Amino acid sequence: MKRLLITGAAGGLGRVMRDQLAPMAEILRLSDISDMGEARPNEEIVQCDLGDEAAVASLVEGCDAILHLGGVSVEQAFEPILNANIRGVYNLYEAARAHGHPRIIFASSNHTIGFYKQDQKLTPDMPMQPDGLYGVSKCFGEAMASLYFNKFGQETAIIRIGSCFEEPLNHRMLSTWMSAADFTDLIGRCFTVPRLGCPIIWGVSDNDTVWWDNSAARYLGWRPKDNSEKFRAMLDAREAVPDKDHPLSVYQGGIYTQDPIMK
Ligand SMILES: NC(=O)c1ccc[n+]([C@@H]2O[C@H](COP(=O)([O-])OP(=O)(O)OC[C@H]3O[C@@H](n4cnc5c(N)ncnc54)[C@H](O)[C@@H]3O)[C@@H](O)[C@H]2O)c1
Repeated sequence: MKRLLITGAAGGLGRVMRDQLAPMAEILRLSDISDMGEARPNEEIVQCDLGDEAAVASLVEGCDAILHLGGVSVEQAFEPILNANIRGVYNLYEAARAHGHPRIIFASSNHTIGFYKQDQKLTPDMPMQPDGLYGVSKCFGEAMASLYFNKFGQETAIIRIGSCFEEPLNHRMLSTWMSAADFTDLIGRCFTVPRLGCPIIWGVSDNDTVWWDNSAARYLGWRPKDNSEKFRAMLDAREAVPDKDHPLSVYQGGIYTQDPIMK
């Protein structure tokens, strides 16, 4: 790849992918609303707000592929979600349409389906059940990906990320955890598979307890290698397993199902 755009480059996953994906492209174009530090030799830094249509149009110009991590990543009030995750995604897809349809990876979330119970096994074709405004905004992003694929042939990998942190932060995340190494490998597959289409992929490692069936994405050749079980003893020692009636034990979206609509 000549130029790969990473949005949300100042964030938790963006900082990891800035290092991991450097060999994948001649130039990394990094973007965020926050400070990203100095550009390294193969990098271009563009600070901009995803809600700014003109800025996003020039951000996307000249890019062969986009890893879209930018935006509000937790439950918040509607206004910031509207700007970054609704307007921002619209701006990104319109910019991609104007500039040759670079392949997009859209960082969606398990919070699109958070109200399913943990004893349900999900396939990507099951209806969304978002657990908050953040989850609703990710449903919107998935719908935009679908619209632009069907109308214009724009390819997007919709990755419903579970929990991509160094280690699971609680017992629920033993089911949702994805290692950075597995995520990096998945990104590589999505950018290099000859025909991507517009799949929904569960972003989860090869954990013993998973709620999500990824068989529809087998054509990507992605086989996650990590398993959260190695963290179970550490979690058991640190905290009690939540009561079986606790939202963390009942719902796939965990505690997000209990959040108020924030003002
Ligand atoms: N980390 C996870 O486990 C996880 C799980 C599910 C989904 N995701 C999704 O993956 C992406 C990255 O997650 P993360 O954990 O790195 O989140 P993060 O909050 O650390 O990073 C998001 C970045 O987006 C930037 N941003 C916010 N509003 C913006 C705007 N208006 N314009 C430009 N940039 C803006 C922030 O400054 C931040 O650096 C997010 O889209 C998130 O919803 C992450």
